[in-house]
Amino acid sequence: MLEIKNLQKAYLGRDGRTATQALGGVSFEVEEGAFFTLLGPSGCGKTTMLQCIAGLETPDSGTIRMGDQVVFSSSDRVLVPANKRELGMVFQSYAIWPHMTVFENVAFPLLHGPRRSSGSDVKKEVARALEMVQLGHVSDRPAPMLSGGQQQRVALARALVHRPRVLLLDEPLSNLDAKLRDSMRNEIRSLVKTVGITTIFVTHDQTEAVGMSDQIMLMRAGSIVQKGGPRDIYLRPNSVFAADFMGRSNLVAGRVLDEGARIRIETPFGPLAAETDAELRKGDEAVAVIRPQAVSLVTREASATLENCFAGQILSLTFLGDVVETEVQVMGQKLVLMLNPYDLHTRGDEIFLHMPAERCVIVPAEKAA
Ligand SMILES: Nc1ncnc2c1ncn2[C@@H]1O[C@H](COP(=O)(O)OP(=O)(O)OP(=O)(O)O)[C@@H](O)[C@H]1O
Ligand SMILES: [Mg+2]
Repeated sequence: MLEIKNLQKAYLGRDGRTATQALGGVSFEVEEGAFFTLLGPSGCGKTTMLQCIAGLETPDSGTIRMGDQVVFSSSDRVLVPANKRELGMVFQSYAIWPHMTVFENVAFPLLHGPRRSSGSDVKKEVARALEMVQLGHVSDRPAPMLSGGQQQRVALARALVHRPRVLLLDEPLSNLDAKLRDSMRNEIRSLVKTVGITTIFVTHDQTEAVGMSDQIMLMRAGSIVQKGGPRDIYLRPNSVFAADFMGRSNLVAGRVLDEGARIRIETPFGPLAAETDAELRKGDEAVAVIRPQAVSLVTREASATLENCFAGQILSLTFLGDVVETEVQVMGQKLVLMLNPYDLHTRGDEIFLHMPAERCVIVPAEKAA
């Protein structure tokens, strides 16, 4: 549905010379109807990418294709203007107009867009869009007299009212409080799935990305780090950066002991068997990624027969309700585990950890920047 090829964009500095490389040759494809998320830390180029797709920024080079239409190509000198790209967009500041009613806000793209609609069509289409976001009952209310979540829904209705081909959402939840954000997350996801529209969502919040997306593209400094489904990226990170960015993990440095898809790494607590997608050679410096959830406790007897079992001593326990965050000393290495709150443990207890090899991932050591 959407194909981006080798997109580059640099911004000139104030002196007109020093350039910031915001996108360094990025390529990816988004399938029809997919919920596709651009995820990454502040400044990694997410908004720049979205603006290039929208036609609000012009890339330096590359191509952007939407369905059968090339909307940007540096080599063929194609540049379809933003209002001809048939996109819906919602920004972080939802930018709804305060001097207008809810109806007028949503009707705006129909009255002023490239394809003007007639009066009765406008009424019908606005009603349909407001129904989708469950705001039919406040149609005549001035826009500022709505809650934050309702204003966000007006922005969504306005983005969807002209039946765009692609919906672009740039951190649309960041102005909402935590609880509202949770419910809007589900609402947006189910709305775009019901409408069936291809959606590109931008966020720097990994929980949001994991909970909403079909596909996630993790970015760093204008480049792609990893692409995949939420499970792949969370459970099978390809780098220290991805492991660290996607959530809590124990990162244990060591040297690779053998080669293949399932390899062992020498850690401070002994050899650990694990899986890898990286091309690592014997003797390479690498890092084992062990998510707290990957570790289970076993009995001393079981630990003697299973692979990847290690004895440890509990250093501290923090009761968090749904889990007990537990620090464990395993030989020279401190690990963090999440234990079941119904299991009683105390500081100083000896426990036996089992880390199944298929739940441990080895990634290349990060080169110092
Ligand atoms: N108009 C501009 N002029 C100059 N530099 C810019 C401009 N817009 C963005 N940049 C720079 O380009 C890089 C990418 O910015 P971008 O806004 O795409 O990041 P982002 O991933 O959306 O970040 P955030 O999560 O903070 O919104 C940053 O280094 C930023 O400082
Ligand atoms: Mg941004």
